[in-house]
Formats: sequence, structure tokens, C-alpha cells
Amino acid sequence: MPYYRSVGEVPPKRHTQFRQPDGSLYAEELMGQEGFSSDSSLLYHRHLPTAIVAAEPYQPPAGARTPNQPLKPRHLRTHKIDAGGDAVLGRAHLLANDDCRISYVVADRPSPLYRNAIGDECLYLEEGTVRLESTFGSLALNPGDYAVVPRSVIFRVVPVGGAARMLVVEATGHIGPPNRYLSVRGQFLEHAPYCERDLRTPREPLLEDGSEVEVYVQHRLRGGIAWTRHVFAHHPFDVIGWDGCLYPWAFSIHDFEPITGRVHQPPPVHQTFQGPNFVICSFVPRKVDYHPLSIPVPYNHHNVDSDEVLFYTGGNYEARRGSGIEQGSISLHPGGFTHGPQPGAPERAIGVEYFDELAVMVDTFRPLDLCEPALAIEDQEYAWSWSRGSSPATGVDPATG
Ligand SMILES: [Fe+2]
Repeated sequence: MPYYRSVGEVPPKRHTQFRQPDGSLYAEELMGQEGFSSDSSLLYHRHLPTAIVAAEPYQPPAGARTPNQPLKPRHLRTHKIDAGGDAVLGRAHLLANDDCRISYVVADRPSPLYRNAIGDECLYLEEGTVRLESTFGSLALNPGDYAVVPRSVIFRVVPVGGAARMLVVEATGHIGPPNRYLSVRGQFLEHAPYCERDLRTPREPLLEDGSEVEVYVQHRLRGGIAWTRHVFAHHPFDVIGWDGCLYPWAFSIHDFEPITGRVHQPPPVHQTFQGPNFVICSFVPRKVDYHPLSIPVPYNHHNVDSDEVLFYTGGNYEARRGSGIEQGSISLHPGGFTHGPQPGAPERAIGVEYFDELAVMVDTFRPLDLCEPALAIEDQEYAWSWSRGSSPATGVDPATG
């Protein structure tokens, strides 16, 4: 994030002597993006962050990727995924390309310590509560929270009081607010649908003792992605203070202020984050189109340059009975296919003033493959849902279409 935070103890001058109670120096670490030319933070460790005592390859569960061919719209039912596993190694990868990987997990146990050296991660918590613990401190996450974890931050996800349902977007690069909502110096502009006051960051250091601590590292490898298990001499949660503009942060979808209009507003008004070759959008409960002749549901549309993924995470989808969409559904509407509301929905929507819906959208500019776990939860009938007869006579399709 582009604005400054300071947590715990830091010395008054950077890169100067900063001593522990026993007289030894704290170990200063700079985490900086784009070499030394972008956002960074300085962290002060009790122990050397460089001290590893072992490294070995780790083989995550294999997951084949299948191209979306024959080209079809897809419907994945995430709630058919069983609870079990943790929010890192237990992810069921569903959709992927070289820019991002989208997965779903029902985490019922703490994850191991983890570092994603490929890119930032955006976690969306559908259900349950979790603590996201990192070298920067702890963040409490509730349903509807997004958490953005910068690349290479060591963290873990701890469910609190039961299993937690999460959608995870792993980027090959960085995730942040859309550039058009930021000033040249990084402040949110007045037309942004959220701003600094809506963001939550760690507030105090998280200190833990321990030796020979495992950290799972997902990292770049020529031609793809690999995993290595590092064993750190000391627990990485040994930071007594940090400051800077790079840190994990959280934002609730319920704090996203919808932008509405007299006629239908296109998805860019819902954009919440941008990543490399993809965007993440939030569809939230809102007043809908108020032109006297408006049609509140979207027109049929063909996003010629992108694949469109929608995760239905709350609200009333009863009206999409014609499509099979339900709570926890993911739809994939790929480039090369025109999609839109179910038959009859435009007429039924006329006069409706409010949509009670909650959905997260990921639009990717490169095509998405289907990962192996997706095939097991796919609704094979979805592709024909627009042509197999009219939908129910009552109810309203969500505006996401
Ligand atoms: Fe769409």
C-alpha cells in the first residue's frame, strides 16, 4: 500500500545502530519492491532473517491444468468441496493462467508458515473468522474481508472457532487499488469507492519463540512454479517493529461504496483491485438504475479481451434458478462467448430499485485453464442454461449477469 505505517519500536534514523536489551544489534531487513525503486518497509528482527539451517524441495499435490476446450461457460460449485486441510497447502486450485491462480479452501486447521515469492495474494473470506499472522503482526478477518498479502511476506492463516471458507487469488506480481483511484503520490481520490480509513493493518508486533521452524516457499522456477521447504534457525515472527509502505492489509467488501447511475453501470465501477493482467471487482448491495425507462439487469455482453469469473458469495440468487447458480458458485464466462442475464430477466427486473447481492469478480486478460479440482465440482448443464427454456416468472437476476 502506498502510505506509511509504523508499528512497534523502530530507531529514529534508518540504517543506524538499534540495540536489543542485551546490547546486541537488532537485524534490520528491507523488504522492497521493484528492486529498491518502489514501496518498501524496514523490519527489525531479534534474529537474523537470513539464518536457514535446511532447504529441501517440496512437492505440492499435483494438479493438472486443462484448457477450456471445447470453449464453454462453466459453473463450479465450491460448496461441494469438502472441509479439510489448511488455507495454504489445502487449496483446491480451480482456474489458472500465467498471471493468476484462483483457488478455494474450507480451512479447518492452521496453515504452516508460508511465503509466496511468486506474487501478492488476495484472500477473500466467505465464511468463518481467521487470524492472518505475519512478520508484520496479526490481522483479524471476518466474513466479507479481503486480505492482501505482499509477495514474500511470511504468514500463516489460523481459523478461529471453526472452518473458514476462502477464495484465494494468487498473482504473478502485485495487487493493489486501481491506479485511477490514486493521486500521483498514492492517496485515494475523492471518487474512489473506498479510502485509507477503510483499510486495516497490523497494529502491534507479533512475537513468537522457536527454533528450527519450517516455512513453505512457493517460488519462481524456469518454466513454472516450484516449492521449497526452508527451515529457519529461529521463528520468523521475531520483528519488534517495522515501518514503511509495504505490509499486509485488510478491507471489507461491506465498506465498498457502490457507484450507481440512472442506467446500467458497467463492471469497472465495481473494480476494487488491480493485478498483472487481471482485475478484482466487488458487487455489493445497492440501489439500482433509476432512469424512468431503465432495465436494471445488464445487457448481454461479450468481453472480447477477457475471461470473466464471478464468485457468488452472498445475497439472493434464488432468481437465477434457471442457471443453477447458488451461494458459493463460481461462473466462468470466457472470451469468445457472449453471456448475459437468464431469459426473461430483463422484463422481470423493470421497476426493481435495489439488488441484494454480494459477489467477487476476477476478470483476466489471458484465458483461464481449468484445474483438476474444478472438473469434479462442475455443473455440466450450465452452458445450456440460456437455451433450455424460460426461467421462473418471479424474482430478479443479480445485476452481475
Ligand atoms: Fe459479465
